[in-house]
Amino acid sequence: MKETEKYVLPSLKAAQIRTREKATIEHSLFSIPAQARHLGAGRKFYLRTYGCQANERDSETIAGILFALGFEQTNYEEEADLILLNTCAVRKNAEDKVLGELGLLKKLRQSNPDLLFGICGCMAQEEEIVRTILKKYPHVDLIFGTHNLHRLPVLLFQAMVAKEKTVEVYSKEGEVIENLPVHRFGKHKAWVNIMYGCDKFCTYCIVPYTRGKERSRLPEDILSEVLQLKQQGFREVTLLGQNVNAYGKDLDQNYGLPELLAAVAQTGIDRIRFTTSHPWDFTDNLVEVIARYPNIMPFIHLPVQSGNNEILKIMGRRYTVEQYKHVYDLIRAQLPNCAFSTDIIVGFPNETEEQFQDTLDLVDYCQFDNVYSFIYSPREGTPAARMEDNVPQAIKEERLQRLMKKTNAYSLLNNQKYLGKIVRVLVDGPSKKNEQVFSGYTEENKLVNFTGENVHPGDIVTVEITQCKSWTLDGKMVKEA
Ligand code: 5AD
Ligand code: SF4
Repeated sequence: MKETEKYVLPSLKAAQIRTREKATIEHSLFSIPAQARHLGAGRKFYLRTYGCQANERDSETIAGILFALGFEQTNYEEEADLILLNTCAVRKNAEDKVLGELGLLKKLRQSNPDLLFGICGCMAQEEEIVRTILKKYPHVDLIFGTHNLHRLPVLLFQAMVAKEKTVEVYSKEGEVIENLPVHRFGKHKAWVNIMYGCDKFCTYCIVPYTRGKERSRLPEDILSEVLQLKQQGFREVTLLGQNVNAYGKDLDQNYGLPELLAAVAQTGIDRIRFTTSHPWDFTDNLVEVIARYPNIMPFIHLPVQSGNNEILKIMGRRYTVEQYKHVYDLIRAQLPNCAFSTDIIVGFPNETEEQFQDTLDLVDYCQFDNVYSFIYSPREGTPAARMEDNVPQAIKEERLQRLMKKTNAYSLLNNQKYLGKIVRVLVDGPSKKNEQVFSGYTEENKLVNFTGENVHPGDIVTVEITQCKSWTLDGKMVKEA
């Protein structure tokens, strides 16, 4: 049998097609077959996560499944019996990192011949990447994708016990599965998926192909998860989706992100965040809800990508600079203390110096607290990858530097406004550099290092800011007023 017949391989063509069928929601689909129940006994797994919060949350599911199979977790590759890389495909450099790592890790097999290597996440959804791995990285034993995490017990059994190379990647999304185990990596802050996939199809982006079509979870499932987290002592939830503003559209219940946010706020959990927003369907109604509830945090990540209308058009972003500014102004008017962050891509095909200048002008207008800036990276199978990537690398890099110089200056300027102010900080723990100093985030998502006594992770404390740097604030804990 040919290799390709033995495996379930992803197909770019199939991933490009959207069907009208609604996703079904399953509350009991996941199970562990009897023969796999003790698969992990006496074994350790090492799991490394690349990319965005969706991947972080998926890794918590993967860890949950592995613990249910009896594995222990290790932070040292050398101790592991199973090394799993949960990968990101959003830019080429993310992929190169993983492929480089795969080459380096191979030598661990010399000291542990039974060591199993697995790849999952967005790279596993890419047809070309999977072919490359099969050809050039034959030591990889297991490949599975973002749509079939629930199959992990069966796939691991096949790879570990039957010792067969196992490749199973579904090109298309399946059900929304509600009964997957989860092992949360945080004790006080939790990720909560509210929807999966993306139907926006921005022309540069691989995500609609690697993560499938938009599928919302039911409000009652989300709310019961949040209530459970609150009972367990979690103080902050971040509602996750590739495009959270589209929440609920596929459920036809006349219930969208504003309604969901209000209901989550009414659970009384201390802090609520949500990401990622799309400016296209950021409604007045949503802004009102954010302003109404004090436990919805005044921090918004609103990717703009470019400050030029022609570029936005060929990016397929579906809004103009004027519309973006309108949403921005609306939020500023209703939430004067709201912090903003954004994503910007430089060097998109055909981007001229003047068009790049428009992006710099928009940064001057919005004065973002934080900007994640990226050099455009062509992704196979996306419409932009068929455009000529005609901005020379040196110019892309120079634009990135100029952009970052400007955005860093605004980060500092925004932080300086906090000098002498009193802020509320959710404590993560002692800071990495100094055990006497604690760190945590303000409501506006500013990282604060502060001194104080009797401080515990998970506390929400009051801190006076004494020094402001570009990326962090320093302060000292003060008694609550
Ligand atoms: N090249 C560069 N940056 C990209 N992003 C998404 N796709 C690409 C690409 N092909 C950026 C966008 C997005 C963020 C998560 O990554 O800015 O908002
Ligand atoms: Fe997340 Fe996108 Fe990267 Fe996938 S490709 S891990 S969805 S950022």
